[in-house]
Amino acid sequence: MSVSIAAADQTVCAPLPVLGRDVTVPLVTGGEVTYAALDYAASAPALQRVWDDVAAYAPYYGSVHRGAGYLSQLSTDLFENARRTVADFLDCRDGDQVVFTRSTTDSLNLLAATLPAACQVFVFETEHHASLLPWRDARVTYLNAPRTPGEAVATLERALADRDPYGPALVCVTGASNVTGELWPVRELAAAAHAHGARIVLDAAQLAPHHPVSVRDLDVDWVAFSGHKLYAPFGSGVLAGRSDWLREAEPYLAGGGASRKVSRREDGGVDVEWHESAARHEAGSPNVIGAYSIASACKALTEAGFDTLVARERHLIDTVRAGLAEVPEVRVLSLFGDDAPRVGVISFVVEGWNSSHFAAALSAEYGIGVRDGLFCAHPLVRTLLGSDPQAQGECGAPEAAPGEKSLNAIRVSFGAGTPDEHVERFVRAVKELVRDGAQWQYRTEDGRCVPAV
Ligand SMILES: Cc1ncc(COP(=O)(O)O)c(C=O)c1O
Repeated sequence: MSVSIAAADQTVCAPLPVLGRDVTVPLVTGGEVTYAALDYAASAPALQRVWDDVAAYAPYYGSVHRGAGYLSQLSTDLFENARRTVADFLDCRDGDQVVFTRSTTDSLNLLAATLPAACQVFVFETEHHASLLPWRDARVTYLNAPRTPGEAVATLERALADRDPYGPALVCVTGASNVTGELWPVRELAAAAHAHGARIVLDAAQLAPHHPVSVRDLDVDWVAFSGHKLYAPFGSGVLAGRSDWLREAEPYLAGGGASRKVSRREDGGVDVEWHESAARHEAGSPNVIGAYSIASACKALTEAGFDTLVARERHLIDTVRAGLAEVPEVRVLSLFGDDAPRVGVISFVVEGWNSSHFAAALSAEYGIGVRDGLFCAHPLVRTLLGSDPQAQGECGAPEAAPGEKSLNAIRVSFGAGTPDEHVERFVRAVKELVRDGAQWQYRTEDGRCVPAV
């Protein structure tokens, strides 16, 4: 897995094999090219290893936690072993629970449903909507975008110092931004939260695929992440961490699997004893393939070695950033500045271009898949663009004339499966599009730019 190739001044490993690495797509300008999937921050391709593990297990698939048969027992073991693998991957503490959910969004909504009464929630406006929005039933304080990691800690400290010191409180923070890719000072924020008697949940959707996440070392109370961003796109996610709030809350979903005992009462009603384990919040038949695929991805990344993966990604980030820096019309979006440590997620705008138009041309003329828009982090992107929340862009015409503010951005993102050629093609494409313009006509369809023919 770690065949070494020489890069400029370091040795970086080859990309991990992923599905779709040989898929070709047609170009509007003629011919076909290998698809360059550069939208890992939305969904990463499945690792070949994950796919192989799932395929090897598939014939043995059986019901989890309910059957007496051999394959049910085997599937139950596999599901429970997956829980242990994830706990190891996250370096959980003794007594922490690992709950399998559908996604990060689901995990954070589950945690929101377990908040103790009168819990105050603190969340930066820079968060993905999955972290920003689930706390509707709580008293939420939205913190302004900080411009340095130190300012983030100071802002949180100030907000926590003003809170009701006796009530429960939760801080929700991202590990790596899905817009700028920048790493947040999680350990320091956790220390600030705990110093003020608050708890903290880490949204690791963008961090876990790129960096090791240690619950113990970061001293966070919970971690949430999604399988489909961790090279395991089979519909599962994870919420891991302290068991007390989870155990004391009503089950997230009511039904079989979450209940230990159900009996009729004399008054005609029903009494339920709920599980106290993770099963309490996993009602219904669990997604064993989803859980198993996450465990497989955790093992594959651990075996490849995060030091190696981080070094390789660093090389890809440097290539993209250096390439974009050579194009004066490109502005890379950043909260914490050029020197901030980051993962392979880079958003930018191109002066004089509509972002949807630019992304459509990257796809149609170069076979490169990126994302454009506000990336489910509207307040952050608008803060970075300085744009009006009510404004709308039109495809075809540049949404921002030179000197004006863009309304959307373009995001390129990559990871363990990305070959050098994909980011090199991307940099070349940006330069050519800015220099020569698009070679094709585009029109608006359902609010998106698409090739006119
Ligand atoms: C930082 C962050 N948090 C949460 C989410 C939500 O993840 P999911 O859509 O898998 O629930 C995303 C998805 O892009 C994200 O980037």
